[in-house]
Amino acid sequence: MKADGSECLCLILLLLHQTPVSRPERFQVLGPAAPVVAVAGEDVVLPCYLKPNISAEDMSVEWTRTHATDTLVHLYQEREIRNDNQNPSYRGRTALFPEELKRGNISLRLSSVRVSDEGEYTCLVQETDLYKDASIPLQVRAELFPRTHAGFVVVCVLFAVAAIVIAVLSFFQSKLKQKRGHPSEALEWETARRFAVDVTLDPDSAHLQLIVSEDGKQVKCGNTRQKLPDNPKRFDLALSVLGKEGFSSGRFYYEVGVREKTAWTLGVTKEKIDTKNNITRNPENGFWIMRLRNGTEYTAVDETDAPLSLGEKPRIVGVYVDYEMGQVSFYNVEAGSHIHSFTGYTFTEKLYPYLSPSSNENDRNVAPLIISPVRLTD
Ligand SMILES: *[C@@H]1O[C@H](CO)[C@@H](O)[C@H](O)[C@H]1NC(C)=O
Ligand SMILES: *[C@@H]1O[C@H](CO)[C@@H](O)[C@H](O)[C@H]1NC(C)=O
Repeated sequence: MKADGSECLCLILLLLHQTPVSRPERFQVLGPAAPVVAVAGEDVVLPCYLKPNISAEDMSVEWTRTHATDTLVHLYQEREIRNDNQNPSYRGRTALFPEELKRGNISLRLSSVRVSDEGEYTCLVQETDLYKDASIPLQVRAELFPRTHAGFVVVCVLFAVAAIVIAVLSFFQSKLKQKRGHPSEALEWETARRFAVDVTLDPDSAHLQLIVSEDGKQVKCGNTRQKLPDNPKRFDLALSVLGKEGFSSGRFYYEVGVREKTAWTLGVTKEKIDTKNNITRNPENGFWIMRLRNGTEYTAVDETDAPLSLGEKPRIVGVYVDYEMGQVSFYNVEAGSHIHSFTGYTFTEKLYPYLSPSSNENDRNVAPLIISPVRLTD
C-alpha cells in the first residue's frame, strides 16, 4: 500500500495527539510509610518528597488539611511563600526547607505542635498540567502521665528534683547574665553569626542628605542635600539607606558599629515600601527596626513602641533574620547578649538591611554608622 500526502498528515496528527497520553509521568509525590508522631509543644517535620528527586523550586507546593474547612497550611508558588489565605492557627509555624527544594524534598517544618494539629495532611504538587499528591497522617501526643500509683509518685519526685535543679541553675544564670549575656543567648547569637553576609549600602536608596562612603560600608549625615537624580528607591523624608542585596529565604546576619552615637535606627525592610511619604516605620508598613534616641532611649518599633531597658550601651549591634520563621533579632555584639526579637511574622517579599544614622544634632551625632566585618571565633 502506498501512502499519499493526506494519509501521512493524518498519521502525524494522530501521533501528536497521543503523545501527552503516552508520555511517562515526570515525577511521583511520596509521603512517609507510617503516620508521623509528634509531641505537643515540640517541632515536627512532615516528610514529603518527589521521586525521582528532581527540583521542586519552580513547582507549586500546597500543604492542606485533608478533611477540614479553611484548610490551607502552607503555599509555595512562583518561588515565593503565599500564605495570605493560610488557616490562622498555622500562622508563623510553617516552613519548607528552601535548600532541600532543589533535591525534590518538599517536607514541611511545623513548629510548636498543638493537639489540634492532629489529622491528615495533603501535600499537593503542581507542575503545569500535572497534579500529584500524597497524604501525611499526623498524630500528636500530649504529656503523658503513667496510670499506676507508683509511676505517679516517681513522676512527682522527678518533677520536684527538676524544679529544684532549674531554680538553682537560673539563680546562677541570672548572676552570670549581669556580667556577660545569658548562656543560651550567647549560643543563639553564635548561631546567628554563622549566617553573616557582606552588606554593602545602596547609594541610590540614600536620602540626599546622607553621605555613603565609596566602598558602601559607612553612612553619615551631611549638612546639605546633594544634587542627585531621583529614583523610586530613594528615601525622600527619612534619613535612611538600604543594603544593595535583599534576601527572600533562609537566614542572614550583619553587624553595624554605632559607637558613641546618640541616635540611630537599624533593622530590615521589605522590598516594596513607601519611600516618598511620611509613614510610621513599623512592621505593618514593612519595617522591623530598633532605634536609639537622646543617647539612652532604646525602642523596638511596633504597636507598643515598648522602651528597651539595656544593661549596657551596645557599641556594635548585630541584626539577624530567619525568613521562614518570621523573626528579626538584635544583639549586643561585644556583650554577646540578646536585645530584642520580632517574632511570628510572615515575610512574603525580599528583606533589605536598613540603616539610619539620624540627624547630626549639632555635631553631637555626626559619627558614621559602619558595617563591621563579622569575625567568627574558632
Ligand atoms: C538523587 O538521587 C540519586 C539516586 O538516589 C542520588 O545519587 C543523588 O545524589 C540525588 N540527588 C540529590 C541532589 O540529592
Ligand atoms: C528533607 O529535609 C529534611 C530537613 O533537612 C530532612 O529532615 C529530611 O530527612 C529530608 N527528606 C528526604 C527524603 O531527604
